[in-house]
Amino acid sequence: SAAEKGGYDYFMLKEIAEQPKAVADTLLGRIDGQGNLSLDEIRIPTHVLRETDKVVVVACGTAFHAGMIAKYAIEHWTRIPCEVELASEFRYRDPILDQRTLVIAISQSGETMDTLMALRHAREQGAKVLAVCNTNGSTIPRESDAVLYTHAGPEVAVASTKAFLTQLVACYLVALYLGQTRGTKYGDEITDVVAELSGIAGEVDRVLETMEPVRELARSLAHKNTVLFLGRHVGYPVALEGALKLKELAYMHAEGFAAGELKHGPIALIEQDLPVVVVVPSPRGRSLLHDKIVSNIQEIRARGARTIVIAEEGDESVAPYADHLIRIPRTPTLLQPLVATVPLQVFACELATARGNEVDQPRNLAKSVTVE
Ligand code: G6P
Repeated sequence: SAAEKGGYDYFMLKEIAEQPKAVADTLLGRIDGQGNLSLDEIRIPTHVLRETDKVVVVACGTAFHAGMIAKYAIEHWTRIPCEVELASEFRYRDPILDQRTLVIAISQSGETMDTLMALRHAREQGAKVLAVCNTNGSTIPRESDAVLYTHAGPEVAVASTKAFLTQLVACYLVALYLGQTRGTKYGDEITDVVAELSGIAGEVDRVLETMEPVRELARSLAHKNTVLFLGRHVGYPVALEGALKLKELAYMHAEGFAAGELKHGPIALIEQDLPVVVVVPSPRGRSLLHDKIVSNIQEIRARGARTIVIAEEGDESVAPYADHLIRIPRTPTLLQPLVATVPLQVFACELATARGNEVDQPRNLAKSVTVE
């Protein structure tokens, strides 16, 4: 009913709008006044976490994209090697796991069969499993050694939005906590990022307030067949997530690529007027990356692409090559997906609506896939 949807036409719109609160709720009580992380839920003893020599993230769908982003954060802040793998592939390749492996299973529903089978396999090999889950008491957390709940609240729309943002928050917390526990050369950076997290819900809110041009753009592209997405570093999984949302909701051919791979194939797809969404990393910090992606934008535009550029406020270098410029707030590099994903969700939702699709219940999809 309309009341259930909080006055929105679709659950998805309601859930997109709830993201600032979902993010804030997932942070609540997990950072103390001194900027220390308190993740008591991770009942895995500190000495075990100190001895961990490998992290493996398993998940499906949108949760897998959160896992890809988690890898960047975990390796950077903890210096522990981290793999991320589709849960459906994991156990079939005889993965190397032992007592010093920490497996993180990410699942909104806690019922995805592939993810459950992956974590069972991991525990059989002696690995410790930490679930990142949005559903209290569901099977995946029940079968894990520990659980860090995301506090997104119930997610009804099949296409995941607020659960994704909170999965990111939970993964950042785990990475920062592991980094803090073990002590790495990034101690100061960890302190800074923890401080930045307290303002991040407000930044997500600011993005939501500027989405009208994105909706307009989506409506103008409703007749297109293909949209490509490019990103680098953590912007790469964001590109994959933008493409997944478009497949799920708009039933359009959409693909995400690592921008550095452009020359190795995808650039052959560029033709006149093809919409290409590019997620631009911050010009601060990893500035080489930024410059490389700006040349990618020039390259595809020279070949006729219609460039839709998502870039940080104040980044003027992209403006001459952007047919459409979507601004996002400045954030620390690794946190950028929290703000960069939001326009892509709005874009896909509006395209689905413009194409007359069922937003909350896309054809052929289920909210949770409980068969292998
Ligand atoms: C289904 C849903 C996706 C979700 C995936 C994983 O495919 O349609 O939105 O990302 O399952 O679900 P989970 O509950 O494990 O996060």
